[in-house]
Amino acid sequence: MIYIDEEKLLFHLQTEETSYIIRVLESKHLGLVYYGEILDINNDYHHLEVKHNIEVGNQVIYDDQDKTFNLNLAFLEMPTFGKGDFREPMLHIRLADGSRITDFKYLEHKIIEKPIFKEMPETKAYMAHIETLVITLKDEVNNILVDLHYSVFPKSNTISRRAIIKNISKKSIVLEKALSMNLDIHNDDYFLTTFDGAWIRERMINSRKLEQGILKIDSKKGVSSSDHNPFIVLSKDKTNEEYGKCIGLGLIYSGSYETIIEKSPYDILRVQMGINSFDFFWELKPKENFITPEVVLSYSIKGLNNLSQNFHSLIKNHIIKPDFLNKERPVLFNNWEATMFDFTQGKLLKLAKIAKELGIELFVLDDGWFGKRDDDTKGLGDWFVNKNKLPLGIKKLAEKINKIGLDFGIWVEPEMVNVDSDLYRSHPDWCIKHPKIKPSFGRNQLILDFSKKAVREYIINVLSELIDSANIKYIKWDMNRNFSDLFSSDLNHKEQGKLLHLYQLGLYEVLDTLTSKYSDILFESCASGGNRFDMGMLYYMPQVWTSDNTDGYTRQLIQYGTSYLYPQSVMGAHVSDAPSAQVVRKTPIETRFNISAFGLLGYELDVTHLTKFEKKVIKNQIEFYKEHRDLLQFGQFYRLKNPYETNNMYLAVTSKDKKECILSIFKTLEQPNSGFESIPMYMLDKNYQYHVVNRKQYMNLKKFGYLVKHALPIKFNPNGLLFHSLSNNYLYEIEKFEAIISGDKLVNNGFIPKQNFIGTGINEEVRLMGDFGSRMYYFKAVEDENERSN
Ligand code: GLA
Repeated sequence: MIYIDEEKLLFHLQTEETSYIIRVLESKHLGLVYYGEILDINNDYHHLEVKHNIEVGNQVIYDDQDKTFNLNLAFLEMPTFGKGDFREPMLHIRLADGSRITDFKYLEHKIIEKPIFKEMPETKAYMAHIETLVITLKDEVNNILVDLHYSVFPKSNTISRRAIIKNISKKSIVLEKALSMNLDIHNDDYFLTTFDGAWIRERMINSRKLEQGILKIDSKKGVSSSDHNPFIVLSKDKTNEEYGKCIGLGLIYSGSYETIIEKSPYDILRVQMGINSFDFFWELKPKENFITPEVVLSYSIKGLNNLSQNFHSLIKNHIIKPDFLNKERPVLFNNWEATMFDFTQGKLLKLAKIAKELGIELFVLDDGWFGKRDDDTKGLGDWFVNKNKLPLGIKKLAEKINKIGLDFGIWVEPEMVNVDSDLYRSHPDWCIKHPKIKPSFGRNQLILDFSKKAVREYIINVLSELIDSANIKYIKWDMNRNFSDLFSSDLNHKEQGKLLHLYQLGLYEVLDTLTSKYSDILFESCASGGNRFDMGMLYYMPQVWTSDNTDGYTRQLIQYGTSYLYPQSVMGAHVSDAPSAQVVRKTPIETRFNISAFGLLGYELDVTHLTKFEKKVIKNQIEFYKEHRDLLQFGQFYRLKNPYETNNMYLAVTSKDKKECILSIFKTLEQPNSGFESIPMYMLDKNYQYHVVNRKQYMNLKKFGYLVKHALPIKFNPNGLLFHSLSNNYLYEIEKFEAIISGDKLVNNGFIPKQNFIGTGINEEVRLMGDFGSRMYYFKAVEDENERSN
């Protein structure tokens, strides 16, 4: 809800649990009064504001009518530079006479239904009614307007912000910095958490205490990047998953961006987000507008998990396409890690047949099916089948795959071109590079210039032809390099600073066209794994390939970090081979499943080499996943133990009514003679009785080696053929857990699994996890009175 005190020009934006209050200051600038836990609308807000009542030394007084007011100490909603605020401005404009002094003051306001701008990804009301407050500020001298948009998402406890700059003067101006929002809050000793990384180690959690000075977290790569996800969390010391104060801010954008955090000597914390101002300049001609991407903000007093749930709810209900909101995603097989570029139709069909036997539903043909693509030096751009590998073409291949009983999906990388391709040979001017400078390559490829209409049209046509040519149910849209050699032959010298953003707008246009035209197709976004994992991409494609790293342990860290902003229903998660191709680490196949099951499950390994043991295990896994798919993909997500800080990770999902829950526990390294474990289950319902069982899992006898005599009543030579053959066939089942436990015990005391292995022997009462081991438990509220415990 948005409440307005028209007399005081005070605006109160209320979600179910939070309040965001702004007002027009006496100077007519727009200021923040409060952001935090919900306040009564009838409150007298005056005591919330801080302001000196006497002139502050060595400051620039904004107006000598009021010596107590200076912009440098104000809590501002849209600061600029030039009138005494020495902190980072949100907007910096070069005016026609070369000056950069702007001063925006309140002009008017209105409440509207959330508008749709179409040219960029954004939150949408979809089925709900979402109010937007638009406050217009004006620079009187230069005739520039800025509309500040505030949209309120009550159920998600989120608000969104963006700025729209309008040049109503008769002269061109140049935007040198045009961020989406500014937030000035009391410093309150905040910690900053960012989600940083690189290829195959995306979104690792990094926290540090904020000190005075400016911190810039950004991407200059032309993609939101795996270096730093466009999302941050501010939290108080000792805030944890369950308790404490925190604020999250995320940008709905996929290109170069910046987040600025400035702690001033007066203990005001300034936070800004938007398009990266580095190397950006945008000429805004008379009558032109500039729309900034949207930022979403959420506040929680109930800890980090609650903050994540707010964002999960926002992404599910207001960002991804509603058709995919609760649409169960198929268990897929992807041939990349199985074959890389080296496949034939025969090999693919062989893989597909086994995949079908295992329970898989969708077959995805990855890179290498087109042009002369036998390795990554050629073919990108030529989206026509490679007849040497697939003589019957895509249509026939898809038919054959369908006949086996699987849906068919395909990989494309439409934004790229190899120099060794027919596309490049016919249109060398279609890519981003300077005519006089030899371009630099990334993965042997150049980037097509999506700021050009001809390029966009070509891509839309060629992909439409591909999609129309066969029964395609899924598309993996990849993007495997960062930007360099920034120059577009279509732009003049005044426009080159626009290129990265124009590229982004062009890409969004192509994605909008294709994903609307083929709205039944499931699109998955990918950029060398998670190099462009952001809400912008999610707006068009409802899921993302989380990381090229499928190692059972690193995946835990990656998915844990990713879950701070993104729900599990958008994270592609595959079981691949062990040792993993990325870190050469062996993790148990059950662990690889248990982590992938907290995402959108797929298998990406050469299934023609599977042992009988592995086949049986995978069949069981897929059966379990399908049985609980709705809960696993769309349940409420809980982080219960942090693998960055401890030797364990606990994750859980619950149904909305709390009648069902799946819990997974993961161990990194086995600890000798370890103590007891109690797993927090605060999210369950105290009033229910829960029937708890563990998922049937199997251990490979090889894990025991010569110790196998302690596990089985037979003696083997651990290096012999017999043992080798037995371990590939024998299904050694883990301990069984089954109990009825009352909700109040679980909520108050936690869940106590069977005791861990302590080196003294193994029997049905002992839980031998081992290094990288894991377990999965299913909790179901007992409906039948007779089943209840006392
Ligand atoms: C990227 C993707 C992988 C795979 C390869 C194919 O690295 O992240 O999943 O599709 O490209 O070249």
